[in-house]
Amino acid sequence: MKKTVLLYWAPGGNVENAAREIYRQFGINELEIADIAGFDVNRLNDYDNFIFGVATIGAEVWTDAKRSNKWNEFFVRAEKISFAGKKVALFGLGDQVLYPDHFVNSLGFLKVFVDKKGAILVGKWPVTGYEFTDSEGVENDMFFGLALDEDQQPELSPSRIEAWVKQIKKEFGVS
Ligand SMILES: Cc1cc2nc3c(=O)[nH]c(=O)nc-3n(C[C@H](O)[C@H](O)[C@H](O)COP(=O)(O)O)c2cc1C
Repeated sequence: MKKTVLLYWAPGGNVENAAREIYRQFGINELEIADIAGFDVNRLNDYDNFIFGVATIGAEVWTDAKRSNKWNEFFVRAEKISFAGKKVALFGLGDQVLYPDHFVNSLGFLKVFVDKKGAILVGKWPVTGYEFTDSEGVENDMFFGLALDEDQQPELSPSRIEAWVKQIKKEFGVS
């Protein structure tokens, strides 16, 4: 059976809550969950499918945001791990009202890693239903993964997660 792991950062806030809801809806037998701090990157070889979760914090100065993001450190640690032929789905937390020019920018940051590693990106999500002006996480009116806005649209998150989990299970080939 194909193995899937959900990795997220940071713990203790909206990203972790979303991660736990995705985990719940996915079905516990098919998915492992962990935050990336302390996750042994050699264990990445054990999985076929990956879900990465992130929040965009402080993208006004985008280079700073990248530097201080734990994901950056994780990707350095994972430099020697092959993702060839592996599938990756992304979800990102953001606030489209306070940060309309940088909404869920971090999805774009994670997508760079996916591309660099030659992994297959799944779980793209339409921009319909969100209002923002710009995002590094969007191409051709599709987010690079599920965008969640717990600050402005918390009531929409459960149904978005439900639909997205169904979508990625199909794309992962685990449903
Ligand atoms: C200092 C700060 C900067 C932020 N910058 C952005 C941003 O550039 N783009 C965006 O979409 N959201 C931004 N946000 C909103 C967060 O991504 C959002 O509140 C998210 O749900 C936080 O997740 P967490 O509770 O797991 O940290 C920012 C939030 C804070 C506190």
